[in-house]
Amino acid sequence: MESNNKGTSSLPFLLCANWKMHKNPDSVRDYIRAINKLPALKYPKRFIFFAPALTLFVLAEELVNSSYGWGAQNCHFEDQGAFTGENSPLVLKQMGATYCLVGHSERRQLFFESEEMVQKKVKSLLNHSIQPIVCVGENIKERKNKQSFQVVENQLSGILKNIDSLDRICVAYEPVWAIGTGKVAGVEQITEMQEHIRHLCATEGKTLHFLYGGSVNEKNIKELSQIPGVNGFLIGSASLDPLSFFNLAQNLVPAKAGI
Ligand code: PGA
Repeated sequence: MESNNKGTSSLPFLLCANWKMHKNPDSVRDYIRAINKLPALKYPKRFIFFAPALTLFVLAEELVNSSYGWGAQNCHFEDQGAFTGENSPLVLKQMGATYCLVGHSERRQLFFESEEMVQKKVKSLLNHSIQPIVCVGENIKERKNKQSFQVVENQLSGILKNIDSLDRICVAYEPVWAIGTGKVAGVEQITEMQEHIRHLCATEGKTLHFLYGGSVNEKNIKELSQIPGVNGFLIGSASLDPLSFFNLAQNLVPAKAGI
């Protein structure tokens, strides 16, 4: 576990694989079996897999008794009802999910999710003891206009309104311009946004878990994982192949590996 001057985070360093709408039940099964055949990872608990909803039952089966975690990329805030096409957080819990992404920028942009909806999802997930990973971040126009801090502040103040267990939240800073573009954010940009987010979410004696996402790969993870206060990564394309994801994990700096 990592500690800093605002308290102690209760989660280990996390490497979260966001497979988006890639893979099917067979390829999910093959992936997990391939990972399991690789030499033992030094720190296996750090992998969390976020598969498409239609394949989650395979993850649940393959990861029974595993130290890897898994979760959904999205869920509704109600447990059941007339919500065609949605996924119930209650069913996720029953299936054994321990994590769920919420508010990913693709959900906001393509499916018009508002801060209010994301806030309700966070509340519902916490009620079910599923760890929400809240994604925030500015787009390129906002970055150029020097609005990044304000945009993230607005997102967080809407999402975390009336949520008092901030130590149970993971925040993933994912600048939209870095997602899937190969343009990873710089160390300074990540550091200052991390400090800003921690300042916004400060509660006495507790820390939130801070992740970075956006074009993380096996080459840049070494440098990125040296940034103090970064508690893990959310990884899209570089997590799709089991060997690349495994290699990426092996490239973490030793200081993080001991967390
Ligand atoms: P990327 O995606 O690693 O492919 O940039 C990250 C994400 O969308 O979470």
